[in-house]
Amino acid sequence: MNTRHLLYCRPGFERDCAEEALRHSPRAEVLDATENSGYVRLQGPSRLDYATLIFARQVIRELGSVEALPERDRLTPILAALPDAPQRFGALWLETPDTNDGKELSSFTRRFGPLLETALQAAGRLEANDKLPRLHLFFPDRQRVVLGTSEPGKSADGLMGILRQKMPPEAPSRSTLKLSEAFGVFLGSEEIRLLKPGMTAVDLGAAPGGWTWQLIRRGIRVQAVDNGPLKGAVLGHPLVEHLRVDGFRHRPRRPVDWLVCDMVERPQRVAALMADWLIHGHARHTVFNLKLPMKKRVDTVYTALADLRATLDDAGLRYRLSAKQLYHDREEITVYVGRVAEGRKR
Ligand SMILES: C[S@@+](CC[C@H](N)C(=O)[O-])C[C@H]1O[C@@H](n2cnc3c(N)ncnc32)[C@H](O)[C@@H]1O
Repeated sequence: MNTRHLLYCRPGFERDCAEEALRHSPRAEVLDATENSGYVRLQGPSRLDYATLIFARQVIRELGSVEALPERDRLTPILAALPDAPQRFGALWLETPDTNDGKELSSFTRRFGPLLETALQAAGRLEANDKLPRLHLFFPDRQRVVLGTSEPGKSADGLMGILRQKMPPEAPSRSTLKLSEAFGVFLGSEEIRLLKPGMTAVDLGAAPGGWTWQLIRRGIRVQAVDNGPLKGAVLGHPLVEHLRVDGFRHRPRRPVDWLVCDMVERPQRVAALMADWLIHGHARHTVFNLKLPMKKRVDTVYTALADLRATLDDAGLRYRLSAKQLYHDREEITVYVGRVAEGRKR
């Protein structure tokens, strides 16, 4: 049976998002991957999985669509397009593309949302329940809507697939938002257990200190490695040791809990460095960015991650690896790799 999927992605990455989806579902047909639209639609025999797709911010299984919504009454055709199954939804999310045009639609969705919510509740199809599938209504524009579902725990947890972060005024750079988003997306409710005061970390390519700031604000002691200067609240902070050495050569005297790395380098070189730290037990958890070239981004990412997995597998490591192009990532993706148990196995 053919399933239609709606994927959200960073505007400008539609081709990458579609290309990656086709790697996982080679017999699928791309229905729409318009450049700079912020979304991709496909139809194919396989289910697409949010956790394995790097370039998709959200993965929605389509239930139907309406192509020509009348301005005076959008409610009636939307309710008519909603199939009988699933019978009940745990949440209603009205969404628009992450583009300037999309933002202009948000006042409309804010007004329309409560109307639809009331109608769905009256029909017994909506109740606040995070065990039930969510109902997404995606408006590419005012005239069209795509209806679909996602399952809590198996999809992105934020509206439009975005885990929004507030810019902390004390942080020395906006890239601080990337690391806080990475912790939220990759660790979820485990964050409290995995990022605790008294832990230790190394930050490779730390200057001016946005990532280091996310660690020290959690009470984590940081070796900040960079020839460049640290700034603001990070400079001279008692939990920070600034080392002006080469990030590719540095190793800590004692193992640390976390290695984070935002150095601008070839993805394969960064991935190999992370593997080395994990295999030699220098760090238990890593978060790193892979900066992407303009062309062949999907190939580059999949090659770097396949090499990383092969190296870790050969060393008999047990680990968890997740990768996403986060909302705060530009020409890059963010990866988490953490060891899941002591010692070697397999
Ligand atoms: C994108 S910036 C890091 C921004 C930082 N994560 C933040 O939140 O403020 C990249 C940094 O990597 C540093 N860098 C690049 N190559 C490096 C190397 N081989 N060793 C140490 N630092 C390096 C650069 O000096 C630069 O400051």
